[in-house]
Amino acid sequence: MKIIIHGGFFSESDQSHEVKVAKQNSLKEIATKGFEFLQNHSAEETVVYTVSLLEDDPLFNAGIGSQIQSDGKIRMSASLMNGETQKFSGVINIENVKNPIKVAQVLMKEQDRVLGGEGAKKYALEHGFEDFSTEIPQRRKEYEAKLKNGGKGTVGCVALDNNGKLAAATSTGGKGFEIVGRISDSATVAGNFANQHCAVSCTGVGEDIVSNATAAKIVTRVSDGMSIEKAFEKTFQELKEIDGFAGAIAIDQSGNFFHQDSYPTMVFASFDGIDFEVFD
Ligand code: GLY
Repeated sequence: MKIIIHGGFFSESDQSHEVKVAKQNSLKEIATKGFEFLQNHSAEETVVYTVSLLEDDPLFNAGIGSQIQSDGKIRMSASLMNGETQKFSGVINIENVKNPIKVAQVLMKEQDRVLGGEGAKKYALEHGFEDFSTEIPQRRKEYEAKLKNGGKGTVGCVALDNNGKLAAATSTGGKGFEIVGRISDSATVAGNFANQHCAVSCTGVGEDIVSNATAAKIVTRVSDGMSIEKAFEKTFQELKEIDGFAGAIAIDQSGNFFHQDSYPTMVFASFDGIDFEVFD
């Protein structure tokens, strides 16, 4: 059983040492809770639970603390992929829901599993989700000051459960100040993908991740026999050719973790019950 999570990026030039320590501590705590949950739950249930904890933490750009778009509204995207069933579900540009990843989880049972905008919100309300504003004062201040410091924040989790099954979940508040209607990578197979061989979740600039098909490529390469290290190396080399800004976390079916970023520093933590690794 193993779990690895990410919470976007940390930049020494934009963020204080206190923020770095707060993110390290939060990721450690959330990875520990996720790992405990994994003892008695499937990989799919665990990645949803763990991403919902990340959505609830205003330090990260997903759920509470999401970036505000150019028209002053928050629209969030999240997706879930079960590596065993090969089913993908997600919401794109949903408003006023506390945990978009939980809406994606409910959608997993539907034939129509990726919903956008108003339809996604209507579905959430019909399935017991409350109207909930995820805005925090800090994001409003940034919006009003037009400080475009977003763009690279997303949260994600990949897990391997005690039955050897893999799953991936990813959630984002977007990049901030985006054109209304922009679709990020987080609810696409470029940003979140899993099968029985490998599970991957990405963070970074959505357009770059989609252009590079990052998560789908890494998973496909591992499925075709490449090691997880080599799959990352080749995929990130291709990302470099387009000067892409991204980071990704992954686990393969043997329990090998991997993470890489094209621009430092992706914020991540992994835990296997013995060893902890947290970004520095
Ligand atoms: N990866 C988040 C975004 O670009 O919206």
